[in-house]
Amino acid sequence: MSTLLPSKNLLPGGERTAVTEADNFGRPLRNLRLSVTDRCNLRCAYCMPEEEYTWLPSRDILSFEEISSLVDVFCGFGVDKVRLTGGEPLLRRELHRLVRLLSEKPPLKDLAITTNGLLLSEQAAALKSSGLHRVTVSLDTLKRDRFLALTRRDALSGALEGVEAALRAGFAPLKLDAVIIRGTNDDELFDLLEYARERRAEIRFIEYMDVGGATRWSPEQVVPREELLARLEQRYGQIEPLPERTSAPAERFSLRDGTVFGIIASTTAPFCGSCDRSRLTADGIWYLCLYAAGGTDLKHPLRNGAGPKELRELLSRTWTMRTDRGAEQRLSMRDKRQALLGQDALRGNPHLEMHTRGG
Ligand code: GTP
Ligand code: 5AD
Ligand code: SF4
Repeated sequence: MSTLLPSKNLLPGGERTAVTEADNFGRPLRNLRLSVTDRCNLRCAYCMPEEEYTWLPSRDILSFEEISSLVDVFCGFGVDKVRLTGGEPLLRRELHRLVRLLSEKPPLKDLAITTNGLLLSEQAAALKSSGLHRVTVSLDTLKRDRFLALTRRDALSGALEGVEAALRAGFAPLKLDAVIIRGTNDDELFDLLEYARERRAEIRFIEYMDVGGATRWSPEQVVPREELLARLEQRYGQIEPLPERTSAPAERFSLRDGTVFGIIASTTAPFCGSCDRSRLTADGIWYLCLYAAGGTDLKHPLRNGAGPKELRELLSRTWTMRTDRGAEQRLSMRDKRQALLGQDALRGNPHLEMHTRGG
C-alpha cells in the first residue's frame, strides 16, 4: 500500500510543486542517481576487476535532452537531489551542457557528481560555472604503486591534481570517498584523513560492498564500521557522532579538533529503512535498489512518445510497489554471504554491474 506524503517542495505561496508518493515501506523518492556513461578510465578492483566488459550500445544512450525530460518527470514526483555518476561521468562528452540543463530546474535543490577526479583539472571550472553544486572524488590511496595496483592505471597524480582543481574552482567542502579493503589500503586511514583535513575536505570511509561488479569480494576484506571507529579513536582520541541522521548513507563523526569525517556502513549496518534513492542508467533503465535484479525501462516509453503524464504514472506505479531492501537482505545471509554475482552473470547482463548502475 502506498502513502501520500506532504511534499517539502513548497513554493513561497505554499503551493505544492510535487506530491511525493511513498513506497511499500513508507519511503519517498527524493534522490536520483543518474549514470551518464558506463565507461570508465580506471579499473578499480572493487568495481571492475575483469579484463573484458560488455558495454552498453551507443544508440541506447540517452541524449542530454532525453535525460532532462526524464528529470522533469522525476522532479514532479518529489526528487530534489540529483547525483551524476558513471562509470566515470566526466568521460561523457560536454557534460557541462547537461549540468547547465539540470541546474536551471528550480525543484533541484542539490546537484552533485561522483568522479574519480582524473578529468577534473580540465573540467572543474566549466562544471562550476554551469551550476554544479557539489563534487565528491573517489580516492582510495595516496600511494602511487598502490593506486596502480588498485586501478590498473598509473594515475594517482592526475587524481590529486583533480582534487586541487575542484578546490580552486570553489567546490567546498569537497567530499572524498575511500573504499577501505582489509590488506589493501586499511593502513592508510590516518593518511587519508589527514590529507582531507589539510584541504578542509570531508573524507568518508566506505565498507567494501558485495555489489555486482565486486566479483572478488569476500567478508574478510570488509573493515566494519566498529573497527574503523576503534582504530581512529585509538589514534585521535574520543570521537563524537554528529547528531543529525538523514537518509544519506554516511554517518558523520567529529574528532576532538573538530575534523569531521563519515563512515558509510552499507555492508554491516545498512540504511535501507530510510532509503529514498533510485538510479537511472545511461540507457534509461530505472533501478530502485543498488542490488535489484531488474529495473524499469523508461527509454522505450520516452522514445515511443509517452508524455510527462504517462511517464509520471509509470513512476508512480513502479515506486509505490517498491519493497527493495537489498543491503539488509545481504546482511541477513550472515556467514553464507559471498560475492553477489560471478563474471558469467555480469557478462550476460551488464546492467548488473556497479559501473553501469552508478557507484
Ligand atoms: P551525499 O549527497 O553527499 O550524501 O552523497 P552520497 O553519499 O549519497 O553519494 P556518494 O556517491 O558519495 O555515495 C557514497 C557511497 O555510498 C557510494 O559510492 C556507495 O558505496 C554507497 N552508496 C551510495 N548509494 C547507495 C545505496 O543506494 N545503497 C547502498 N547500500 N550504498 C550506497
Ligand atoms: N564497495 C563499496 N563501494 C563501491 N563503489 C563501487 N564499487 C564498490 C564496492 N564494491 C563506490 C565507491 C566508489 C564509487 C565510484 O562507487 O564509493 O568511490
Ligand atoms: Fe537503498 Fe537498496 Fe541501497 Fe538499501 S541496498 S540503501 S534499499 S539502494
